[in-house]
Amino acid sequence: MVDLFEIMATTRAMRRLKSDPVPDALVRKVLEAGVCAPSGGNYQKWRFLVVKDMAVKQAVQKLYKRAYDEVIGPRYAGSAPPPGSDPARYARQHAAVEYLTDHFHEAPVWIVVCQEDGTAAPSRSSGASVYPAVQNMLLAARALGLGSTLTTRHMMFAAEADAAFGLPEGVHSYAILPLGYPMGKFGPVGRGRLEDVVFADRWGVPYPG
Ligand SMILES: Cc1cc2nc3c(=O)[nH]c(=O)nc-3n(C[C@H](O)[C@H](O)[C@H](O)COP(=O)(O)O)c2cc1C
Repeated sequence: MVDLFEIMATTRAMRRLKSDPVPDALVRKVLEAGVCAPSGGNYQKWRFLVVKDMAVKQAVQKLYKRAYDEVIGPRYAGSAPPPGSDPARYARQHAAVEYLTDHFHEAPVWIVVCQEDGTAAPSRSSGASVYPAVQNMLLAARALGLGSTLTTRHMMFAAEADAAFGLPEGVHSYAILPLGYPMGKFGPVGRGRLEDVVFADRWGVPYPG
């Protein structure tokens, strides 16, 4: 078992996945890590859909691709590399994003993270009750040698996607985690400097620690 800090430092978005099946026992371990997460009031309104049905995945991939063509692709083409990246690395990220877009449905398993919101619209605070579970699952997948990526782009067509998943009234999807064995290797994440994002006591005051 790799050290937790090592796992965190190497849990990159793994967008190129093999179509080889993932054993159900591993999917279960990932899900068990998910439900270890905290949720507001410990209400655990999260619900997880494990999707292997190609027809369902294809229906949602079409929406995912449409969002790429209309919004995400042009945005990538016109933006600068983020902190900790550089033009070459950013170009590789863009290529991987495009690859996942075209091959989304080929990931052998999707974990669709949903929540029973009832009459409340999905919001910042409702999201805060499911994304800790998402990160736990990403870390667990990494620890098991599985690749994944937190994806939310389908939410640009949320109603259509939720209908494709057969979600009942009051249940919304918050993320799709495509899961599979990675084609490439895990490697260090690229991020900006701590000094640029941490302040002491008041906004803008350098943190000396
Ligand atoms: C809220 C959120 C939504 C994201 N949605 C998508 C997505 O729809 N498709 C995708 O390929 N990556 C998506 N990502 C992954 C990010 O692009 C990725 O985490 C970021 O580029 C860092 O990648 P790295 O860990 O490989 O450095 C999302 C990440 C977050 C946190």
